[in-house]
Formats: sequence, C-alpha cells, structure tokens
Amino acid sequence: MAEAAPLKRVRTRHFQRAKENGIAITGLTSYDALTATIFDRAGIDFLLVGDSLGTTVLGYDTTLPVTTDDLIPHARAVASAASRALVVADMPFGSYETSPDEALHTAFRFMKETHAQAVKLEGGERSAEQIRRIVDAGIPVMAHIGFTPQSEHQLGGHVIQGRGAGADRLLRDAHAVEDAGAFAVVLEMVPSEIAGRVTRELRIPTIGVGAGPHVDGQLVVWTDWAGLATGRVPKFVKQYAQLAQTLTDAATAYIGEVTSGAYPAPEHEYEG
Ligand code: KIV
Repeated sequence: MAEAAPLKRVRTRHFQRAKENGIAITGLTSYDALTATIFDRAGIDFLLVGDSLGTTVLGYDTTLPVTTDDLIPHARAVASAASRALVVADMPFGSYETSPDEALHTAFRFMKETHAQAVKLEGGERSAEQIRRIVDAGIPVMAHIGFTPQSEHQLGGHVIQGRGAGADRLLRDAHAVEDAGAFAVVLEMVPSEIAGRVTRELRIPTIGVGAGPHVDGQLVVWTDWAGLATGRVPKFVKQYAQLAQTLTDAATAYIGEVTSGAYPAPEHEYEG
C-alpha cells in the first residue's frame, strides 16, 4: 500500500482506499516483537497474530487447541512493536461460535489486553451475527472464508474450497460478511477465478491466502514464507528466504567453534 506521504498508522479506511485505487495490500503473520519490528520497518500494511501460532510456535498439529489466553501475550507483543502496520488479532476456535455475546466478549479482551486494532474470525454466513455484533461495538473485523483451518475436520483436511458447486457457497459467504460489516475478507485456498469474481463483486478488499493474483492483497504465514518451517509448505507459498538452513549453518558453526575452543576469541572477552 505505497502512499505518496508515509502513513503514520495503517487504518481500515486505507484498506478501502487501496482497493478503490487498485493498490495491493500486504500482510504477514507475526507472533512476537522481533518479527513485528522487522516487518513493520519494512513497510508491511498489516500483521496478523494468527492462531497459526499453534502450529508454528506452540508445536500443535492443528490450530484447534489454541486459546485466547495463548494468543493474548503474542498479540500484545506484536501490537507494542508495530508502529505503522495495522495489527489484527485472530479469535481462536471456541472463543466466538456460541453466540454474538461470546464473540463480543472475546473481541473486547483482545482490544483491551493487547492494543491490537482489529480482530479476525472464521466463517461466512454462520459467523455473520458475530461479526455484526463486534462491528456495532466499534471494533473492526477481518472475516475469513474459503478454507477455514478451525473447521479442518469438518472440511476433510486441507481441501481447496469454492470449486464447482462450492462457488455459490463462497459467494454467499463473501456477501454475508460484507453485509455484516467486515472491513476486509481473507479468502484461503480458493481457485483464482472464483477469488477474482468475489473481488469484483465485493466493495470491501479481499486478502488472498492461496487465492491467486485477482484479489486486493496477499497474506502469508511468515515462517512458511521465510523458509523457517521445517515441515511441508503449501503450494501457494513462495519462499523469500531459507532461514532454517541459515540457522542450521549458524548452530553447526557455533557448536564446532565452542568445542574446538575457537569461540570465545580474545575480542569477545572482558578485561579485568
Ligand atoms: O492463523 C493464521 O495465520 C491465519 C491465516 C493463515 C489466514 O488464519
């Protein structure tokens, strides 16, 4: 979202302006102050403190065990480090589905305890009332449709959504979240053509995660994107670095130098 004058803080209105002007919106996940500082200084538009925390940082197989209490310290760290990027806190599985009141309670916790500027939740038509209630209380909501990892068991695994008859469902979900007041919608793992159709039909920006180029912005899980993840990386991810290899090389060199006595060298010592 390159602007003529540097933005003090990216706001939801800038998302809307970017869509209207055909300027791509950029997003990465972040779970800590170190990466938030780096990505923010690089000029990223938004940072998602995703419940992918579970699979990237906490060592779970899925995002399902992640709780609000797990996410809050991470969202607080990211929000305290980012001075330009809009920080979005992800509402975890089991923290909003029961009722709009439960959803609002969780959203209040994120806003009060982390200083994030928006929340994200999964689901289209099924989450519309939750989105409406949170937005009515003055909290911006990023919606998330298509493949929704919190429903992976119901969806039958990591399955592409919006194919064939699923296209109508995706369009209904997209319109439902826009009508409910979401300021943007994540489209995860959907074919490019249907993502383009959703993008043309909606007034709010679409953010693609494996949704091809015909969307208003892109979002990636940073550990996949930077080659830090050691497991399988989805087809849609382009790796911009190979951090796992860099860290492996560094750790191997460190072990070698400590065991050989090459480290610490005289320049690393304090004089008495
Ligand atoms: O938790 C997360 O990182 C996400 C993105 C992949 C959309 O929800």
